[in-house]
Amino acid sequence: MYFQLRIISVLGFKLMVDVTRSLFEVDETREIFIRDLKIIDSKDPHSWTNKIILGDCLKVLQKIPPESIDLIITSPPYADSRKKTYGGISPDEYVGWFLLISLELKRVLKPEGSFILNIKEKVVNGERHPYVLNLILEMQNQGWLWTEEYIWHKKNSYPGKWSNRFRDSWERCLHFNKQKKFKMFQETVMVPMGDWAKSRLKRLSETDMRRDASKVESGFGKNISNWVERKMAYPTNVLHLATECGNKNHSAAFPKALPLWFIRLFTESGDTVLDPFLGSGTTCVAAKELGRNYVGIEMNEKYCELAVHNTEQAKFNSQRLSVHSRDSIYQSEEYNFMSESIYQTYYDYLVENVLTPFYEKRFEKLSKLRLLDVLKRKNPYLFKAKNIELASDFVKSIVDAYLSSQEETIFGNLLENFAIFVSSTLYNGSKSELNSIDLEFERDNCYYIVGIKSGTSWGNSDQINKMKDNFKKARSILRDRGVKGEIVAVNGCMYGKDSNPLKDKKKLKKGTIDEEPDKIYYKYAGQEFWQFLSNDENLYQEIIIPIDKEAKQKDELFKATYAAKVNEMTADFTNYFTRNYHIDWAKLIDYVSKKGKVLLEPSQEQTSLLLDEELDSEDIFDLSDALDLKDY
Ligand SMILES: C[S@@+](CC[C@H](N)C(=O)[O-])C[C@H]1O[C@@H](n2cnc3c(N)ncnc32)[C@H](O)[C@@H]1O
Repeated sequence: MYFQLRIISVLGFKLMVDVTRSLFEVDETREIFIRDLKIIDSKDPHSWTNKIILGDCLKVLQKIPPESIDLIITSPPYADSRKKTYGGISPDEYVGWFLLISLELKRVLKPEGSFILNIKEKVVNGERHPYVLNLILEMQNQGWLWTEEYIWHKKNSYPGKWSNRFRDSWERCLHFNKQKKFKMFQETVMVPMGDWAKSRLKRLSETDMRRDASKVESGFGKNISNWVERKMAYPTNVLHLATECGNKNHSAAFPKALPLWFIRLFTESGDTVLDPFLGSGTTCVAAKELGRNYVGIEMNEKYCELAVHNTEQAKFNSQRLSVHSRDSIYQSEEYNFMSESIYQTYYDYLVENVLTPFYEKRFEKLSKLRLLDVLKRKNPYLFKAKNIELASDFVKSIVDAYLSSQEETIFGNLLENFAIFVSSTLYNGSKSELNSIDLEFERDNCYYIVGIKSGTSWGNSDQINKMKDNFKKARSILRDRGVKGEIVAVNGCMYGKDSNPLKDKKKLKKGTIDEEPDKIYYKYAGQEFWQFLSNDENLYQEIIIPIDKEAKQKDELFKATYAAKVNEMTADFTNYFTRNYHIDWAKLIDYVSKKGKVLLEPSQEQTSLLLDEELDSEDIFDLSDALDLKDY
């Protein structure tokens, strides 16, 4: 039995290894170099995938079947910049020449695929020729979507001096798509938090960072330690990479890190990557190392042989796929991406536009607080029911109750603005003028209308029905304004949970019925709400970081001001609402609720104190007298 199991497990392991090999490794025994286009059979992917094909890409591309490529990444000749080395097209003819090729590229690219065009306009007669800009416009006319422009910052560009400009240190990586929805795997290119994380950690106290069981109960200790363990953030659209021509036998090779980055971002294992201007084969090498299929086209035979050689040498490198190796690769010089991230933007916004105005408003409310105003707004029976006996406790309770009801609204509004900011940063979202709607944005062919609330337990049935009516009206207004496609309504709650987000049923006294289609909405709360906005499941935790730090700083001053205010109001309260040094509840209730005008006189002992002072200002007030309650 033991041996049977052992044989099964050995066979199982071998099968697993074979499957993994076949998935990720190119069969080395097959010829990868194609010199004769006749051997390509469009219907047989084996005849053109994992091949390097000699020829003019315009002709070769015609042999590749439609919608068969997941990613095109290429660096064509920059007009005739390197005419002597590998030919080129004059800048004035460039657009016309390239458009024929881009049409073929569009045909072979899958609908959800991406095209990365690494290009830079050359200088002609002392000024930049606009052929790249013209090309972008013409490609848009050809039906391409110009989704993004990444910048490749060449960290080691040659020093030099020009009369009218500085050293050229960057190139464009234009990102084109056939449709708005395309494959993108953002987590695969995350970058280490780097120094920024270290400086943020410094701002946290030691206890915050300790995983402390007692703190977990409050949620806070755990939150901070979660964050401490997070090492990666999303990168920017600037790639800081050194050029690597020196040892490549090709004067215009791009660094392997460039195709590696885009291949990780836009493809998954087993996908096919095409480079129609292959040069030394960098794209095929990167694709092979990542376990993707490749197709390279190069018209210069010498470069084609070089590309074949380089690609044959390359090996599928499982390390390139693993998260751990990604850490170490990115930390190396070659992958020294900027450590700033979108979180820094959020952090800055939260400090400047949430915490700062929040404390300003708190101070303002506190300074304007007057005992007699606040008393009228609070329920005296409640405080009596809580058996409050000390004047200072009473004053503190009414001040806290008053401030906290105000603060909830103030903070809620400011945090709502942050939610809108996140959406505007990531998806061009904007504040809405429509009733019950705070935010509108478009993503993945859907138009979202979002009503934002603080927590999940807002609103009675009338208020919820009103929101649903307003969702219905908003949908109709937006359709009239020309919004096409699906309009999704969302009630977003900044904290809390809702395990049943789709609200498509109407509650009746007896059971439920289907809701009108235009009143259907989703209720996303807490983590789900912030993730819905940003596609980032960690955002709900990130928010706490700047809040924690700023609050600690600002609260010290607030606490001192608060203490002074409570003391001042306690003195007033003692002056008017105590008798024999006890709270005079009858007088207090009269003041709050008695019909007509109530004249407020200082309490007797205060009057007598004043009189005593007048009689003999040298007399010292004896506290033991004040505490002697026998006469009461
Ligand atoms: C900028 S280089 C590409 C370098 C490449 N990215 C690398 O890392 O080695 C452009 C290449 O396109 C090739 N080329 C130019 N016109 C071509 C065409 N019509 N079809 C195929 N290859 C072409 C050139 O011979 C040159 O090697």
